Amino acid sequence: MGIETSCDETSVSVINSDSEVLSNSTFSQIHIHKEYGGVVPEIASKNHLEKILPVIDLALKDAKKEINEIKYLFVTNGPGLINCLMIGVATSKSIGLLKNIPVFPVNHLEGHIASCFIENKINFPSICLVASGGHTNLYLLKSHKEFILLSTTRDDAAGEAFDKGAKILGLGYPGGVEIDNLAKKGRKEFHSFPIASLDSDFDFSFSGLKTSLKHFIDKDLNWKEKIPDIACCYQEAIVQSLVEKTKKAANKYNAKNILFAGGVACNSRLREVGKNLFGDAAIFPSNQFCTDNGAMIAMRGLQKIKANDINEDNNFPVFSSNKSNPNLDL
Ligand code: KG4
Ligand code: ZN
Repeated sequence: MGIETSCDETSVSVINSDSEVLSNSTFSQIHIHKEYGGVVPEIASKNHLEKILPVIDLALKDAKKEINEIKYLFVTNGPGLINCLMIGVATSKSIGLLKNIPVFPVNHLEGHIASCFIENKINFPSICLVASGGHTNLYLLKSHKEFILLSTTRDDAAGEAFDKGAKILGLGYPGGVEIDNLAKKGRKEFHSFPIASLDSDFDFSFSGLKTSLKHFIDKDLNWKEKIPDIACCYQEAIVQSLVEKTKKAANKYNAKNILFAGGVACNSRLREVGKNLFGDAAIFPSNQFCTDNGAMIAMRGLQKIKANDINEDNNFPVFSSNKSNPNLDL
């Protein structure tokens, strides 16, 4: 079972040892945070607390499993909102203690990478772009075990650029979805927003783009009539920047597959450009596995178990089926 509570999705999934997803039950809080224009951590953790047990029950019911049939519990332990992570971790540890199930921590970003393996067979070496609300990272994947971080963003993440850009344009949250939809009605040739060129080959930067959007609408009194065009060009700059760096990395490391993960991988233009450029080598998980979900956490846990990368010794310092006196210290 994979449990994910790092941000605004309470998500629990049951997978089997052949990586088949038996259930992936998600309670999204987007509608709750919408009125604030972003995630409010206190409200998010309160909702995780209310929903975590019902979501676990639903995941078990959908998978037609009982809790006693769960062999391992995998839970996101970071990065994320600390008060949200604590709900998932404390719940997992409690269930682990009560039901004698070993509990293992999973890194959220490794989870996003693993989401690409749920529906696809991946060849190595491959390059993976993780583009989410908080991160924009490129990884070289050498095996199921070895994920090497190549680059990151120097300022805003790609999802953050979508969310902040949408806010500037007076659109709702999450901004990526709003911009993606509006951009379909816009023209790419309307304007060229700048793409940051940095001294490093693979690093990203999006804060200048956001500023240039602000300057653009400050200079044009009629900008509100042109929102689809503006959204389309703003999205194009983000997508081209993501794809350009990913392509450089793919060429340098002779990648056999190019993986796109994280919420931004839902973006329809990124999918179009990625598939045009890399053909069948491009891998995009289906949308339910791009945004935060329990299945990717379970998948990463399973990969680590299969690679002998985790065992009862590097379990959370808590529960294990063969320890008679579990250490309850956090
Ligand atoms: O991976 P995720 O669900 O959560 C984090 O770990 O951050 O990603 C959320 C981000 C948000 O910034 C949201 O605007 C963006 O993913 N996003 C999109 C789309 N759907 C979600 N960005 C662009 N186009 C989309 N269709
Ligand atoms: Zn995420």
